[in-house]
Amino acid sequence: MAKIYATTQQQVSARETRNMEKVRRIAADGMVLLENNGILPLQNRGQLLAVFGNGVRRMVKGGTGSGDVNSRTVVNVEQGLEEAGFGIGTKRWLDRYDNDCTEYGRQYMQSFQKVLQEQGFAGVNWALENPYRDPDVPEITEDDVKDADRDCAIYVLARTSGEGSDRKLAPGDYELTEREKENLLALTTLFAHTVVVLNVGGVIDTTFLRQTKGIDAVLLMSQPGCAGGQALSDVLTGKASPNGRLSATWAKSYSDYPFAERFSYLSGDLDDSWYRSGIYVGYRYFDSFGVMPAYPFGYGRSYTDFSMQVRRTEIQGERVCVSVLVQNTGAACGRQTVQVYVSQPQGKLDKPYQVLAGFAKTGTLAPGQEETVTISFALRALASYDEAAAAYVLEPGLYYVRVGAHSRNTHVAAALKLDEPVVTERLQNKLRPDCAFDVLRADPERFCSYPSEAHEKASALVLEIIPATIATKTAVYAPAPAMLTTDKTEPVTMDDVASGRASLDELVAQLTVPELASLVVGASRGGLMSYSTVGAASTACPGAAGDTTSGLIDSRGVQNLVLADGPAGLRLSKVFVADAQGNVIPGLGESSLGNLGELLGMPTPARPADAVDHYQYCTAIPIATLLAQTWDPALIEAAGDLVGEEMEEFGVTLWLAPGMNIQKNPLCGRNFEYYSEDPLLSGRCAAADTRGVQKHPGCGTTIKHFALNNQEDNRTHNNAHCTERALRELYLKGFEIAVKDAQPLALMTSYNLVNGVHAANHKELLTDVLRDEWGFAGLVMTDWGTTEAADGFKYGASSPALCVKAGNDLTMPGSQADVDAILAAVGKELSLAELQACAKRILTLALQCRKQRG
Ligand code: BGC
Repeated sequence: MAKIYATTQQQVSARETRNMEKVRRIAADGMVLLENNGILPLQNRGQLLAVFGNGVRRMVKGGTGSGDVNSRTVVNVEQGLEEAGFGIGTKRWLDRYDNDCTEYGRQYMQSFQKVLQEQGFAGVNWALENPYRDPDVPEITEDDVKDADRDCAIYVLARTSGEGSDRKLAPGDYELTEREKENLLALTTLFAHTVVVLNVGGVIDTTFLRQTKGIDAVLLMSQPGCAGGQALSDVLTGKASPNGRLSATWAKSYSDYPFAERFSYLSGDLDDSWYRSGIYVGYRYFDSFGVMPAYPFGYGRSYTDFSMQVRRTEIQGERVCVSVLVQNTGAACGRQTVQVYVSQPQGKLDKPYQVLAGFAKTGTLAPGQEETVTISFALRALASYDEAAAAYVLEPGLYYVRVGAHSRNTHVAAALKLDEPVVTERLQNKLRPDCAFDVLRADPERFCSYPSEAHEKASALVLEIIPATIATKTAVYAPAPAMLTTDKTEPVTMDDVASGRASLDELVAQLTVPELASLVVGASRGGLMSYSTVGAASTACPGAAGDTTSGLIDSRGVQNLVLADGPAGLRLSKVFVADAQGNVIPGLGESSLGNLGELLGMPTPARPADAVDHYQYCTAIPIATLLAQTWDPALIEAAGDLVGEEMEEFGVTLWLAPGMNIQKNPLCGRNFEYYSEDPLLSGRCAAADTRGVQKHPGCGTTIKHFALNNQEDNRTHNNAHCTERALRELYLKGFEIAVKDAQPLALMTSYNLVNGVHAANHKELLTDVLRDEWGFAGLVMTDWGTTEAADGFKYGASSPALCVKAGNDLTMPGSQADVDAILAAVGKELSLAELQACAKRILTLALQCRKQRG
């Protein structure tokens, strides 16, 4: 019987109240003001506001799927505005829309139930592929506005998405619906001002918003977590300033993104994706190919203005330091983000126009107030990966350091001069594509520019890089693991290891092959499509995503590890029921899977007379993209800290977050769970999140989905083909930064194949690159159900035995078939030593948690 951590007290705890307040602050700081002609902040309070849109009452706090978090309360936009003292003059329209949604939802559930009746639990996939989306909004008529003040209307436009399917390039998703456009047009004639609030997880088409006269402000509220309505009111009223800056490029038109028409289902080929854009993703593409975006990477307006003045740029040993004086020159308070980019010299290798090298955010500056921020970065971080040499190299020439407030207003601060090539790191090519294909190469002729650029370059301060100051590192790859043996005959337990009476090696050496196999497969034995599993397979902590085995608790004292999603908070069941002895009664209480049991026609178990309700109310934090939009690692660390606190409270070991894939294309269904299109920003955010969580004893993060999980349609059987250079410089770089800066306790592999090999089976990726090159010391696990056999696909499922061979320590959520496959492979394609190595890493983590948590 597992220890129950949940409380039996139903009332709101001090921790819930405190964390909700934190979410309010963080969410406000990551909202991005895209347009404002002076209407914001709203000046008059207490008026009867006209508030419309599908995101007012049904505000999307975060996306769907495993990233959804079951918080007790969600303050929506209507409630947030009312709390701030506004009256809402458009309740009738909001009621009408609510009724439409209720009816639409009922019909959707009927269809879902039909599929479940036909297919059993496997029908859950139908819901992933056909996720519920609210219907289009009703028309706004004159009658709807008659109670509202005619000064300003607020229109909250919401979009949602989630794992398992990509977003649609269609009205209602990427595009506005005709009805939304008609409604917005109506508002611009009925009201003096119209403010549009975007309650979206990623990029949408803003053409109509930018072109329609009368739309006076556009605020990217993003998907802000459980205190979203309050945070939005704070920003709309000016109580908080919109300090967010975009973490991705918002194009004028979808077709402006590189190879836009070849993304996912648009290409007509869900089996193979070709990363033809190479290293040119996001601003790296837009800047290098002279395409002007609607809103550039790093962009965001403010209620005030700032000036920036570079005070000093210098080389200190292996690092470059840039000091910038920021002054608030406007009339309101605010924070500014200083962004430093570098343009590398063209050479044998082509380079983008510029890449982000560092950033810093000021504190809140009052009007007139100044602050000097210093941004520092390593020279070696400017190296490019040369596949021909299997090395990172700094090519000779001038490296221009640029400073600005976003990617399209950077100015040259200095030039760093390198006279000879420098190899910063010697590696081996480990990630070559499985077949040849063409990738983009930039042509400097097409680079974006601005009138003073040539002059800035010509007159830039030149600093010499001394090649000898940059040491060349050489990767050392570990030999295959050696088999562990022991002469000890007395059974070794974790107690013995913890107290120093025996070593972990001795414990591992004593484990039988069946014990080892059971350890490297998650505790669920029903497989993904058993009722207990999809994203909620834990028996130790109801609603958590899974556990490691409990099978060695009695014999060896190995406690199981509890794993729970992420990334927008801790995803657990809010309420569960246990008997008086503390045994959880499945099927009672509130499942994190909603009413799935009921839909499947499963009988509800009788409630014993001595049953006790247990509560696990967690906090829904903002989505990862909003966190990244804060550009504030300290704030993100605070978000991680909040999650870590709740993990400790509910006995969770690993948080299945943060998600940190590169936002390659805006239609990826999971972009909202990811930070940015830029690897440096992503890596810094993940490191900060990790630091916050790992401050808590026995708690760790699981950075995911490693790697190239940039498409959701057919995510399990998609072969992502990518050059080694793009992998290393772009798609893996954020993971590398997070590993080196913060040592997350775990990492989750992705469902897809990477250059022909399933990520979970990719030894070069997981052992050679992740562990040997980067020094990752934690545990690697699969994504849920990646080894489930599947017919009819060009590329099948990953193999449980090859997971072990590759160094993917844990197969989740686990099934008997996984265990059997591993047992059958030992002594054939899998050595005992390889199995022991994975088991040892799981036990190392279990030991660490035990020591820290007691
Ligand atoms: C998702 C993971 C998640 C896991 C457990 C999978 O469907 O891809 O991100 O952590 O489920 O819920």
